[in-house]
Amino acid sequence: MKTVLAKVDEQAIRSAGEIIRQGGLVAFPTETVYGLGANAFDEKAVLSIFAAKGRPADNPLIVHIADKSGFEGIVKEIPEKAQKLIDRFMPGPLTVILKKTDKVSLHVTAGLDTVAVRMPSNKDALALIRAAGVPIAAPSANRSGLPSPTRAQHVFSDMDGRIEMILDGGACTFGLESTVVDMSGDIPVLLRPGAVTLEQLKETVGEVILSGGVLSGLKEGEVARSPGLKHKHYAPKSARVVLLRGSDKAIAEHINRFAADNSHKVGAIVKNCVTSLDKNVKICYIGNEDLQYAQSVFDALRALDDLNVDIIFCQAVEEGGIGLAIMNRLLRSAGFALLDV
Ligand code: TXA
Ligand code: MG
Repeated sequence: MKTVLAKVDEQAIRSAGEIIRQGGLVAFPTETVYGLGANAFDEKAVLSIFAAKGRPADNPLIVHIADKSGFEGIVKEIPEKAQKLIDRFMPGPLTVILKKTDKVSLHVTAGLDTVAVRMPSNKDALALIRAAGVPIAAPSANRSGLPSPTRAQHVFSDMDGRIEMILDGGACTFGLESTVVDMSGDIPVLLRPGAVTLEQLKETVGEVILSGGVLSGLKEGEVARSPGLKHKHYAPKSARVVLLRGSDKAIAEHINRFAADNSHKVGAIVKNCVTSLDKNVKICYIGNEDLQYAQSVFDALRALDDLNVDIIFCQAVEEGGIGLAIMNRLLRSAGFALLDV
């Protein structure tokens, strides 16, 4: 299959909408990461997403809608607390999980009786959903297990020849996937932290439980509330990832000690304030703010992997605000390897 890579314009959106209606796959930008979309009501198209990504069949997809009326017909009801989150954070980087109707295929939800719904704020994503005229089921547009794509080029390197079209809308604003909250029970459960923070969720609905698996591996025998929690994620193809927590100076010293013995090709993802790194270290500086870290962390993991480094040291951040989401992705990328230095 020939994959068309097109800059977003009216014509490209029209063709992309047509491809979705015909049962094809289109990758598109959102404010979080690039998605790999298919008509959510077309079972065959939905199944082809799993094939293109190499995604385990038990990991459900998010249904993307263009306006709030899109909830009608796909969820059974919107409880009061869920409505509050929808009113405050949609459109935006939030996904809510609610009881599904029969209209939503079990292929979308991987057999669950709940469905994840999100209304992105990215104008190109909204234009595509409107052009398609159907809700769009879309996971992140990476090959399963790899870091999520935040630029069209990342999608191209994972999906060339596997999907009909990639819409290039530039780099994503947030760079980490949406906050996923399970609103199908009495107390909301945060399954995946994102740019809508735990603090903001609590401000809006009161008590919110942080799911197991977000900052630590699932314990032996612990059941994943979200199938996504149990699968390998965000890991570069060959490099090993290790998180370092400590002062800027201690982090630099640890990395330099490791680089000094010359037996490993070493990469580092650090804030600009980590200075004096050895010249042999391949460094991705990610600015000094957590928001900048979020925007560029997946790009940095991919870039260092492309340089064939053996190990990537990443600077840990505080777990408040968007820092919780950064730590969740980094810890999972590292298989929970975290060193205090
Ligand atoms: O920002 C995002 O959410 C991006 C863009 C494209 O919208 N999408 C995305 O999709 O990250 P994906 O498939 O990579 O992640 C969806 C997550 C998975 O961890 C999945 O297990 C969880 O949401 N999920 C989906 N439906 C669920 C459900 N019914 N119950 C529990 N978890 C669910
Ligand atoms: Mg994903």
